[in-house]
Amino acid sequence: MRLIHFCSAWLLLVFIPRGCHGGNILVLPAEGSHWINMDILLEALHSGGHNITVVRSNKSWYIKEKSSYYNTYTVQVERNLDQEFITKIIFDYIKFERGAIPLTSFLNTAVGMIGTIVDVHSTVGELVSAILDDKELMRILQDSKFDLVLTDPSWGHGVILAKYLNLPLVYNVRWLIAGEAHLAIAPSPLSYVPITGSGHTDQMTFLQRVKNVLLQLINLIQNQVVVKLVYQKLCDKYLGSDIDFNQLMLDADIWLMRVDFVFEFPRPTMPNVVYMGGFQCKPAKPLPEHLEEFVQSSGEHGVIIMSLGTLIGELPHDLADEIAAAFAKLPQKVIWRYIGERPVTLGNNTLLVDWMPQNDLLGHPKTKLFVAHGGTNGVQEALYHGVPIVGLPLIFDQPDNLHRIEVRGAGKIVDIFSMTGDIFYQGIQDVLNEPSYRLNMQRLSRLHRDQPMKPLDTALFWIEFVMRHKGAAHLRTESYRLPWYSYHSVDVVLFLAGAVLLVLFTFVFFIRCLCTKICRSKVKRE
Ligand SMILES: *[C@@H]1O[C@H](CO)[C@@H](O)[C@H](O)[C@H]1NC(C)=O
Ligand SMILES: *[C@@H]1O[C@H](CO)[C@@H](O)[C@H](O)[C@H]1NC(C)=O
Ligand SMILES: *[C@@H]1O[C@H](CO)[C@@H](O)[C@H](O)[C@H]1NC(C)=O
Repeated sequence: MRLIHFCSAWLLLVFIPRGCHGGNILVLPAEGSHWINMDILLEALHSGGHNITVVRSNKSWYIKEKSSYYNTYTVQVERNLDQEFITKIIFDYIKFERGAIPLTSFLNTAVGMIGTIVDVHSTVGELVSAILDDKELMRILQDSKFDLVLTDPSWGHGVILAKYLNLPLVYNVRWLIAGEAHLAIAPSPLSYVPITGSGHTDQMTFLQRVKNVLLQLINLIQNQVVVKLVYQKLCDKYLGSDIDFNQLMLDADIWLMRVDFVFEFPRPTMPNVVYMGGFQCKPAKPLPEHLEEFVQSSGEHGVIIMSLGTLIGELPHDLADEIAAAFAKLPQKVIWRYIGERPVTLGNNTLLVDWMPQNDLLGHPKTKLFVAHGGTNGVQEALYHGVPIVGLPLIFDQPDNLHRIEVRGAGKIVDIFSMTGDIFYQGIQDVLNEPSYRLNMQRLSRLHRDQPMKPLDTALFWIEFVMRHKGAAHLRTESYRLPWYSYHSVDVVLFLAGAVLLVLFTFVFFIRCLCTKICRSKVKRE
């Protein structure tokens, strides 16, 4: 009897999909590490009973053509963001930073990067044209009756396609074309909202606020340049010249934001922004046998794991040698994801791997420390599992992500550009031997996990919400349709100031008239 109950309960669970079933979702993902978290979302959507279709290019780097949980359409392009492209950007950047002084480094990030950014987005532009010019594909997409478009708006192709197909739009987002997404959609007082790249917290001195404002200006300029050179042209060509790309970008129904306020500094937000930070995290699974054996062999000292992310598999030789030498001095065992040439100073306590089950390792009770570059995925996983971090940030948002961990006392940043083996060794020792780092990270982990719904379930709920209601227009503010002077009420202030002045003038004029009259009558009387 019990068994039958169990079976029928199980059948119910399997065959009655949650809430809204059989949705049809078109996905336009961004390449590289951004795909990793999109992939997790897609797998979950598929398990929720939805049909997923991904549009990719024949040169896609991370996005596989064959998958058990999504269908693909592939278009032909000449160029794409790929390993070679990214490795070159990062190597140039490391080379520059290692010889740089603060001002040149600031200018390099601000101005030098603009060519690179435009280049990356030009390849996205070519992808947009390849999709929209493919008449056969567009016919299929139009006939497919999709319920919504899911995209990562750090690339602009999903935004344009959603408008072209006239579909509701959901973002899996942290970045827009230039800068953090909140800055575009929510009011963001620069007095306490630190700009990415500033390395500031939400408490800034006057000079820090000056730098903050300058950085935001640079973001705005970068955005305008890219939009003007790439995306606005595409809008004009395919959507009609009355469509403004910047407005289109802000027109999305739901913004699934890949942060939460355990990680991010508190700031104003919007009704259609939904927080799903840490949605990629899950409890650890058992390790493969050879790794488990290696981890157990560490005894009471435990294990340190190091990964500089999927984009940065290798480092300049001398740097890798310094890191390996520092590891060799430790009593702990080390698992290091590294695909470059084997460092000559590598100790026998260090295992080089070209891939590792990072989440499962971070969740292993023997793991004492995570040496990380500070990509969002890795930082969120460390936070979820409560493992303190020694950060070696390189580029993009990495310094700022790690800074958020450092100011909460849950990790320490070591400057990779000026680092020697000894400095690195000292950094590791500090975090290992001072218990507060681990305790603070575990506190963050408890805060992060204490939510009414798991972040991934929240994300799925809102995607299904948009499908059920064919959008979420009622949550969207009208702010982005306003010109800047109306948004900031500059016109109203000017009008009111004018009115006050007018009244004052009239009053003064009247008084003067009165005075002259009284004076005149006085003179007459005398
Ligand atoms: C799922 O999407 C693919 C590709 O768009 C389409 O061929 C297929 O018919 C869809 N399946 C369902 C059940 O809607
Ligand atoms: C992708 O398509 C382009 C343009 O047709 C072609 O030149 C290129 O060789 C293709 N690349 C791959 C990897 O198939
Ligand atoms: C590893 O190296 C240390 C010192 O170089 C040595 O004492 C130890 O026996 C070595 N262990 C193994 C398993 O080779």
